Amino acid sequence: MARVAIVTGGTRGIGRAICERLKADGFTVVANYGGNDEKAKQFSAETGIAVRKWDVGDHQACLDGCAKVTEEVGPVEVVVNNAGITRDGTLHKMSFDDWNEVMRINLGGCFNMAKACFPGMRERGWGRIVNIGSINGQAGQYGQVNYAAAKSGIHGFTKALAQEGARVGVTVNAIAPGYIDTDMVAAVPEPVLEKIVAKIPVGRLGQAEEIARGVSFLCSEDAGFVTGSTMSINGGQHMY
Ligand code: CAA
Repeated sequence: MARVAIVTGGTRGIGRAICERLKADGFTVVANYGGNDEKAKQFSAETGIAVRKWDVGDHQACLDGCAKVTEEVGPVEVVVNNAGITRDGTLHKMSFDDWNEVMRINLGGCFNMAKACFPGMRERGWGRIVNIGSINGQAGQYGQVNYAAAKSGIHGFTKALAQEGARVGVTVNAIAPGYIDTDMVAAVPEPVLEKIVAKIPVGRLGQAEEIARGVSFLCSEDAGFVTGSTMSINGGQHMY
């Protein structure tokens, strides 16, 4: 039977590419999403991938959502923590709410989803967790103390949980994307983005599919000895 994979924030951008790739790899994919019903409906119609709506920053919603997926689709064997938001601004302009929302969703979401799915993976002796970090969690970024802190936290979370999963067949890895051609990056003011792209050695933004290929490898049987690692996919922008 096909293994069940949940991809959070799976209906758009990098998440969508990951869903499509994992489906092509033979997983039964469920795409979680948080807000945009219209886009989710369109995604499901175009890809044939099931969608489920809940807020990954809400602990109980993750427990309930994953329990429902287990009941209706099957035990969750792969989790890709991709859901994330930005609330960019320099510290002196950033509100406490901007800080909290980014921490709650981007970092809290990883904890909430792991709490929901890691125990079952342990019991069954197999699992794959892939957390989407960021170049900006590795290198920092002007105007992103909230996002950089949350993404940096994801890298620490990954290495800690990898140690807990290693003996029970559960690998936990991160991918640190650079600037990828998505709505999130398109929201960066054009002159700022131009300067950023000028510093990418390969001379272009990345494509969502280029991240999805990395996730595909980390979720495969071939990656059983890879755990606690961070795969940087950033066009050479930050070598870490
Ligand atoms: N280093 C040093 N100084 C910088 C700087 C930098 N990287 N970027 C801007 N500044 C300076 C500017 O030159 C400007 O100085 P002057 O007034 O002397 O000219 C000053 O800081 C204010 O800059 P802005 O006009 O840009 O300030 P703002 O308040 O209008 O906007 C901002 C601030 C919202 C942070 C804006 O600069 C911005 O959006 N930056 C991009 C942040 C970014 O890269 N976000 C990534 C989103 S995508 C993502 O996060 C995905 C992923 O994982 C990669």
